[in-house]
Amino acid sequence: MSEKTKLGVVGCGGFCRGNHIPNLLKNPAVDLKTLCDLNTDGLEQFNVRRITTDMEELFADPEIRGVVCATKPDARRDIMALALKYRKPLFVEKPLCWGEEETLKTVDMMKEFRDFLFVGFNRQFSPLMKDAYELFKKHCGGTATTIIYRIVGEALIWPPAHYDAVINKKESTIIHEVTHIFQLLHFLTGNFPVSVHTAGGGNVDNIITLEYPGNVTAVIIAGDNGSVGFPKEYLEINGNYTTIAGYNFTELEITACKLFERRRYPYTIAGREYTTSHVEMEEKLRAFRSSITPEEQSVGYYYDRQVHVDKGHAQEMEVFRQLAAGEIRRSPIDLYAGAAANLIACEALRSHTEKRKIFPDLNKLFRNS
Ligand SMILES: NC(=O)c1ccc[n+]([C@@H]2O[C@H](COP(=O)([O-])OP(=O)(O)OC[C@H]3O[C@@H](n4cnc5c(N)ncnc54)[C@H](O)[C@@H]3O)[C@@H](O)[C@H]2O)c1
Repeated sequence: MSEKTKLGVVGCGGFCRGNHIPNLLKNPAVDLKTLCDLNTDGLEQFNVRRITTDMEELFADPEIRGVVCATKPDARRDIMALALKYRKPLFVEKPLCWGEEETLKTVDMMKEFRDFLFVGFNRQFSPLMKDAYELFKKHCGGTATTIIYRIVGEALIWPPAHYDAVINKKESTIIHEVTHIFQLLHFLTGNFPVSVHTAGGGNVDNIITLEYPGNVTAVIIAGDNGSVGFPKEYLEINGNYTTIAGYNFTELEITACKLFERRRYPYTIAGREYTTSHVEMEEKLRAFRSSITPEEQSVGYYYDRQVHVDKGHAQEMEVFRQLAAGEIRRSPIDLYAGAAANLIACEALRSHTEKRKIFPDLNKLFRNS
C-alpha cells in the first residue's frame, strides 16, 4: 500500500470520540497524527502522537493532508478560515451552520474551496442506503413514487447540553438532525424539493412533507418522543408497484409481483458483530434501553454498549481520506450540498411558523457565485 494519509481532528467531543476517532484509527490507510480540542482531558486514551489545544498548529503542519472538524457549528467559522488559509481539505460535521443568513455567508466565504469541503451527512455511505439507491433506480424509477422516512429517537437519553438546547431553548431538530434526511432524499431522488410543509412542534416532533420533481412525494416523521428501545430509522419507497423497506440500517427488503429479496447488514454491540433479522435487532435495542443507568443518562453517551448499526460513518471517513489524499477530486457532499440541506431546513421551519406550504428557492445559493 502507498503511504498512509496523515489526518488531524479538531473538536474531539462526545460524538467524535465515539465515532470518527475510532473509525480513523481502524482505517489502515489513515495515519491519525493530531487531535485538537480546547479540552484535552481523556484524549491520551487514543494513543495519537500529538494532542494540542491550538488548531492553527494542526492546520499549519505540512504533513497533515486533511482535517476532520467535529465541533458544533458555532465554532466552525475560524476553522473554515484556517482550511482556506492552509488549503487543507476539511470535513465538517453536520449541520453546516444554523440559519439562512449564516448559510449564505458561509457559501460566500467558502465557495472558492467548495470541492474540498465535505459536509458530514453520512447516511448515503451506509451499505443499506447504497443498496436502496440501486434498487430504487432499477425497479421504481420513472413512476409516481412515495417515500416515507421515520427518524424518531428519545430525548430523555440525550446529552444534557443537547436536551437543554432543543427542549428548553427550542433549537430545532429540523436543523440539528432532519438535515440528514433532506440530504439523503437528495441522494435518493437526485433532486431538491419544490415544496415543503411542516406540521408539529417546530423544534421537535414534526411531520414534514416534501414534493420533488417527477411525481415523487416524501414524508419525514421526525420525533424525539419515542423510545430507543425501538428502531430509530425506517425507510420505505413505493413506486412502479414495488416496495423497498429499509429497517434501521439492518435489513432491506424489496417486494413486487414476482420479486422478493431480503438483505441483511451487520451491526455491533461492544465490538461484537451480529447479522440478524431486524426483529432480533429490536430485542437487543429493548435490552439496551432497559439497562441504561442513571450515571450513563447524566452524560448522555452510550457508545460502549449501544447497538451500533452501520450508518456509513466509517465509510464517509474513508471517502474523506481519499479527498485529502487527492485520490478523488471533489467532495461528494460539498459546500452547496451542505448549504442546500440547511436552506431546506430553514424553509421547513418557515412553513411551521407561517402554517403554509413553502416553495424553496435554492437558486439563492448560487446568485453570488
Ligand atoms: N453525523 C452524525 O451522525 C452526528 C451525530 C451526533 C452529533 N453530530 C454532530 O457532531 C457535532 C459535535 O457534536 P457533539 O455532541 O460531539 O458535541 P460536543 O460539544 O460533545 O463536542 C464538540 C467539541 O468541540 C470542542 N471545541 C469547540 N470549539 C473548539 C475550538 N475552537 N478548538 C478545538 N475544539 C473546540 C469542544 O471542546 C468539544 O469537545 C455537532 O455538529 C453534531 O451535530 C453528528
